[in-house]
Amino acid sequence: MSKLTSDKFLKLIPSLFEINLNSDKSGQTIFTKLEQVIGFDEGFIYFLNPESLQLKYTYKTHANYKINDTFKLTQKLKSSIYTSDSEILLPDAEFIKAVGLSELKKKSYILAKISIKSTVFGAILLAKKEIDYYKESDLDLLNASACILSYVLKDLELSDVFKIQLKALKDGIYEKHEAYKTIKEQNEKILEADKVKNEFLANISHELRTPLNSILGFSDILGANLYGNLNHKQAEYVNDIKISATHLLGMINEVLDMSKIEARAMKIVKSTFWISRAIDEVCNIVSPLADKKHIKITKNMSADFEVFADYQKIQQILYNLVSNAIKFTPENGEVDIMAASNPKSFKLVVHDNGIGIDEKYHGKIFAKFVQLDSAYTKKESSTGLGLTITKELVELHGGKISLISEINNGSTFIVDIPQD
Ligand SMILES: Nc1ncnc2c1ncn2[C@@H]1O[C@H](COP(=O)(O)OP(=O)(O)OP(=O)(O)O)[C@@H](O)[C@H]1O
Ligand SMILES: [Mg+2]
Repeated sequence: MSKLTSDKFLKLIPSLFEINLNSDKSGQTIFTKLEQVIGFDEGFIYFLNPESLQLKYTYKTHANYKINDTFKLTQKLKSSIYTSDSEILLPDAEFIKAVGLSELKKKSYILAKISIKSTVFGAILLAKKEIDYYKESDLDLLNASACILSYVLKDLELSDVFKIQLKALKDGIYEKHEAYKTIKEQNEKILEADKVKNEFLANISHELRTPLNSILGFSDILGANLYGNLNHKQAEYVNDIKISATHLLGMINEVLDMSKIEARAMKIVKSTFWISRAIDEVCNIVSPLADKKHIKITKNMSADFEVFADYQKIQQILYNLVSNAIKFTPENGEVDIMAASNPKSFKLVVHDNGIGIDEKYHGKIFAKFVQLDSAYTKKESSTGLGLTITKELVELHGGKISLISEINNGSTFIVDIPQD
């Protein structure tokens, strides 16, 4: 992928994961997101009907084509979809005719297979009126997007398969044990697909982290004036690079952590450490973010104490809570970090005097990808995974996280971790 293409894709990734087809039955969000990076006049998504191996429209942008219309594929087309090595095809006139699109009179078509572990279950087709419109970079982008969309679409399509099977069972079409066997097989497939998804996420996150670490490292070196003093503007811009890269790295780490949590591969490694060490380190990391908004961070602890926990994960819990507190607090606000212990447990409390959270959302904000509507969530690009991961990390320690907050009146997050 060229740099420009990978930049575009990088921007697109988090938003592709956000697509929720349960609340968007028309699949319009998929096209809206793709449109940001690839040009097309019409877009179609097809599923291969598992019984008949025909193509079935599922989502489309053109009003003349009906969802769930099916098309009989010739043997040649079937084998081009199933057996061709390439994930991306440039469909010819025969294909376009077979799916009933000839009258659209478009000159360029591009098709990406939707597949999981080389099992093809559908295709995304984009059409543009100009001739020879699609370039190498568009093929790359569609291919990469189709990889992620395969996972988004998979759940939906498999649940359709379930519906067919359950209906068949109800109608007495299948022998009971046959139906159960198929359901069991599907279940195994879902588990397998989920494993592949997590591996895929872990891999791309790793690939993305490596270059970002060098951006961070070099901006640190520049900022430390080791190779000559920076003027005021240069120092400001280097700091901006650092803030943006830290932010992006945070998002990538969240995706990676979430995939580990879902694969139940997140392990904790406990050691004994002074709590002030974790708090000080987090304060150092977030200080550029706080300084930029003139937010004062106060540490509050009657006495330092030792805890037995996973140092890196406790740091991450604190980082997520403190960075939220900074993010959702207006300029010149205040953030307090408190720590206290008793013989049975220790508490970490992060308080801010920011925008607060309405009580009706207190349960919801810990769910994946949930972000409440506010000027702050719009301004900052983020994934909405921070609190989900935080809660998981606290629970891995056998602890609990709770929240006291009301709208316009600040928020207090309380983490309670037992000590045995
Ligand atoms: N201290 C806070 N004050 C006000 N709202 C908050 C606070 N912390 C979290 N929220 C709300 O809960 C939502 C979920 O928080 P979470 O940390 O999971 O996501 P995020 O910060 O938006 O994104 P990410 O952490 O993935 O970068 C936020 O989008 C925000 O609406
Ligand atoms: Mg957050």
